[in-house]
Amino acid sequence: MKKLTAALVAAGAAGALLLSGCSSERGGSSTEETAGSSESGGGFAADATIGVALPQKTSENWVLAEQLFKDGLSEAGYNPIVQFANSGVTEQQNQIQAMTEQGASVIVVGAIDGSQLGSQLEAAVDSGAHVIAYDRLVKNTDAVDMYVAFDNYQVGVLQGQALLEGLAERKGEGPYNIELIAGSPDDANSTPFFEGAMSVLQPKIDDGTLVVVSGQTSFEQVATQGWKAENAQKRMDTILAGSYGSTELDGVLSPNDTLGRAALTSVAQAGKETPVVTGQDSEVESVKSIMAGEQYSTIYKDTRELVAQTIKEIQALQKGEDPEINDTESYDNGVKVVPSFLLTPVIVTKENAADVYKDDDTLAPLTQG
Ligand code: BGC
Repeated sequence: MKKLTAALVAAGAAGALLLSGCSSERGGSSTEETAGSSESGGGFAADATIGVALPQKTSENWVLAEQLFKDGLSEAGYNPIVQFANSGVTEQQNQIQAMTEQGASVIVVGAIDGSQLGSQLEAAVDSGAHVIAYDRLVKNTDAVDMYVAFDNYQVGVLQGQALLEGLAERKGEGPYNIELIAGSPDDANSTPFFEGAMSVLQPKIDDGTLVVVSGQTSFEQVATQGWKAENAQKRMDTILAGSYGSTELDGVLSPNDTLGRAALTSVAQAGKETPVVTGQDSEVESVKSIMAGEQYSTIYKDTRELVAQTIKEIQALQKGEDPEINDTESYDNGVKVVPSFLLTPVIVTKENAADVYKDDDTLAPLTQG
């Protein structure tokens, strides 16, 4: 199913044709300019209020999204309310409730805890709002119209593959000593990231190519509460002190850049050689680290693309049209399979960084000699 999605997205124009032929995208008409409010039913005013509930600033992508949503929604003629919930789940619940009270026609939600928003989102839907899960799925509720994200499972697959490739490239012949890090257990993305990576790594653990010296291989053992660097660093410090002694650590599966840099810091402080460390998000500090030959890989999920797609979906809903969907089977939230539009993540190493970031004004200069 993942393969189908990837193939369709990757196939560009051909994929688009295929999609309109075989997916649930109906109507066939391409979205033209934002017209006035829809007469076809289901639409809403062209200057509607749109709420965007973002989580905590646990990585740069969220900070980028804030400005992109404010600018993009205003330019499209809407009245945006874009908020972070830095103090946690209760704050996010209150924000969503307030957005509903302010008459938001769509609520875009990047959940802190995907399982804790059911009643607020149900109230939003009851008031006539549409709900779009953004980047992170919301769970255990049918009060979600669709999901827009990069393919999270594929992110994990790419991370697993990069770890193996980096080990072969930098550490000679195996077996290799590795450790595993996963994201925050309340974030619905953390499991698909980990499962995608383990689909590649588990067979290599089973055949002895990879040795997880700490013995910690379950999601619960390796998860990082709140995606906090200090939590990952502490766990790595404990593992290095308790399980490694003079043994070298060859590689670390890290689900994102923030935690990857925490692992690199921990290993450096333990006086060990730089391991092969994966990441995600293409954060500035990590791209610098990759170019300096330290962190091995990251993932590029262009936030501009994700926000633009979300705004496109909002415009379709505003006109009373069906949103654009390219996956109807991957994201079961416990109550229903949430129709999704999945974008394709890209793996980045020192070798292809200049090419991947060539259209990114912030990252491209970091890849020039
Ligand atoms: C996002 C990642 C990000 C992480 C921590 C995840 O839900 O998909 O891109 O690194 O949250 O902020």
